[in-house]
Amino acid sequence: MGDESVNALAGLNLALKRGSFTAVMGPSGSGKSTFLHVAGILDMPSSGIIKINGKEAKKLSVKEQARLRRDEIGFIFQRFNLMSQLTVLENVMLPMVKEDTKKAVDLLNRMGLTGKHNKRPWQLSGGEQQRVAIARALINDPSIILADEPTGELDTKNADSIMQILQDLNRDEGVSIVMVTHNPASADFADEICHMSDGNFVNNGK
Ligand SMILES: Nc1ncnc2c1ncn2[C@@H]1O[C@H](COP(=O)(O)OP(=O)(O)OP(=O)(O)O)[C@@H](O)[C@H]1O
Ligand SMILES: [Mg+2]
Repeated sequence: MGDESVNALAGLNLALKRGSFTAVMGPSGSGKSTFLHVAGILDMPSSGIIKINGKEAKKLSVKEQARLRRDEIGFIFQRFNLMSQLTVLENVMLPMVKEDTKKAVDLLNRMGLTGKHNKRPWQLSGGEQQRVAIARALINDPSIILADEPTGELDTKNADSIMQILQDLNRDEGVSIVMVTHNPASADFADEICHMSDGNFVNNGK
């Protein structure tokens, strides 16, 4: 940050098993989002090693990093981050490697969004927008989902339906999930809860 350096993460060490569902909790500013961005190679740590499916991120070219992100990782954000000028279907198809409209349509239908394909994101409820964002995150069949407070903007009913979708993905399809949340009810869906404080994990396990 200008001349000032901020240690958002320090001394952090975490190995996540394939197929695991982990919740990350902790106070505001403890480094949860930074951890998720580093884990998904959206940010590169100034020191330390980040390995995804056996591949060390720092040793890859920028192009290889982008490919790894595209092929292996799906991101879900608190504020959905959908493109407002695109339709629901176009949003989902945006990151697609090989254009396949049927696949996108099937995925949207599976998310309970039949009949909403040609709407714009702002014509949908928060819960519906988050389901579009999940469909977009899944479009390239990632092995890992990184979600930053996916239920933060939703009421209990919508939060529950999003958590159910994530749990099914984990249980039925073996997708590994790391989810930052402030919501204990959402964290309960995970198999393991890691607590962060001052840029590191303080303990883990339920
Ligand atoms: N781009 C940045 N430049 C400078 N400092 C930053 C930057 N991003 C994060 N930080 C700092 O790093 C620390 C961790 O931030 P981070 O966003 O990871 O916290 P968080 O746990 O996700 O918080 P919240 O629960 O509020 O989302 C904070 O002290 C924050 O101010
Ligand atoms: Mg955050």
